[in-house]
Amino acid sequence: MDLETLYKEAARAAQSAYAPYSRFRVGAALLAEDGSLHTGANVENRSYGLTVCAERSAVFSAVSKGKRRFTALAIAALDSDYPVGPCGACRQVLSEFMDKDAPVYFGGKDGRRESASIGELLPFDSLYDLAAR
Ligand code: THU
Repeated sequence: MDLETLYKEAARAAQSAYAPYSRFRVGAALLAEDGSLHTGANVENRSYGLTVCAERSAVFSAVSKGKRRFTALAIAALDSDYPVGPCGACRQVLSEFMDKDAPVYFGGKDGRRESASIGELLPFDSLYDLAAR
């Protein structure tokens, strides 16, 4: 599956975002090693710090279904004027299940797209040697 198709799946998932506080809807689409697709959306909470980003929603959903390795990720920030990359916490979680050269493709509503590998997004990854691989 090409990255633009994966992006469309992320944009579709973003429509399920629960974001009544920020009004900032985000969707993520993960491609698993076996070709299966897994999506997630951000889920906010009135206790703001409990919010879970779209990227972690997608990872936790896929891992809960037994998937362990992902080859690409797309992130659609529907309400952003510019492409939005994953937050620091999500970069750490993603790095557990994606190779360093796996592409992360992200965009906002301006139509621009950015792409960076997990290794670029999380250089000098801490605890890499501890990773259960
Ligand atoms: N958010 C994501 O879901 N992913 C990102 O990459 C950036 C931020 C969510 C968290 C919160 O619900 C809203 O966007 C505003 O920060």
